Amino acid sequence: MTGWTEQAIRERVRALGPWFHNMDLRGVRTAPDHFLGDYPRIKWVRFADHIPADLTGLTVLDIGCNAGFHSMQLKRRGAARVVGIDFDDDYLAQARFAAEIEGIEIEYRKLSVYDVAALGERFDLVLFIGVLYHLRHPLLALDLIYEHVAGDRLVFQSMQRGSQAVLGLKPDYEFSETAVFDEPGYPKLHFVEQNYAHDPTNWWVPNTACSAAMLRSAGFSIEAQPEEEVFVCRRTERAAAGFGERGAVYPARGPAGDAAR
Ligand SMILES: C[S@@+](CC[C@H](N)C(=O)[O-])C[C@H]1O[C@@H](n2cnc3c(N)ncnc32)[C@H](O)[C@@H]1O
Repeated sequence: MTGWTEQAIRERVRALGPWFHNMDLRGVRTAPDHFLGDYPRIKWVRFADHIPADLTGLTVLDIGCNAGFHSMQLKRRGAARVVGIDFDDDYLAQARFAAEIEGIEIEYRKLSVYDVAALGERFDLVLFIGVLYHLRHPLLALDLIYEHVAGDRLVFQSMQRGSQAVLGLKPDYEFSETAVFDEPGYPKLHFVEQNYAHDPTNWWVPNTACSAAMLRSAGFSIEAQPEEEVFVCRRTERAAAGFGERGAVYPARGPAGDAAR
């Protein structure tokens, strides 16, 4: 408990807004009129049971943590350490304030998903929720997560559009095969050149088959899909084909400009 009165919390919440996460900070709602409802709680309850209830001793990384709703939920499950990263100062200020009000210790850092190598450690549980479709380079981000920070579990969510069918694919096709690309269940990533949902930061929206295929391709095996947009995965040994020995080398490691390891 801190010395904040409800009125002081209310004023600070207003000053830090607008909020994307609707949280209840000692009776003060941060985004009561959210266009998705009581978000992200309504989403969280659909997959919360697929994350261990007891995270005692484990480390957690929440990528694109926003105001820290998920970071706080996981810290409450006993995680030894929770690190939340986001590249947006305003959201990080909200996250730090919410954690202070709730009396929860979380390490928030300003960092892009493309720079996760700078963390220099792997985490037992990585959350990558609601970020992929905001990236111009989504597969690079998954490769970097695999390469640098994923230690075991990955919980992934993306907005998805298009078919929810999933086509069982053969490992290879003849050059003359063209019809398979038009199958609804073929993995597709829809490119948004301008805006989607009035948001210019929406770049690539996968269908279900594509989310799953990208995760597998990056080196994650899918253990559960508790709801259509959420995948609970484990890091596996990635097949070397197509990757060479290096994996994702951005950003360069070692002396400036030297990508060699
Ligand atoms: C739709 S919100 C999702 C927030 C939260 N993970 C959730 O599921 O409720 C997207 C978040 O990703 C952050 N974000 C977008 N691109 C990012 C990047 N390249 N690196 C780190 N965070 C990013 C945004 O600032 C925002 O907080």
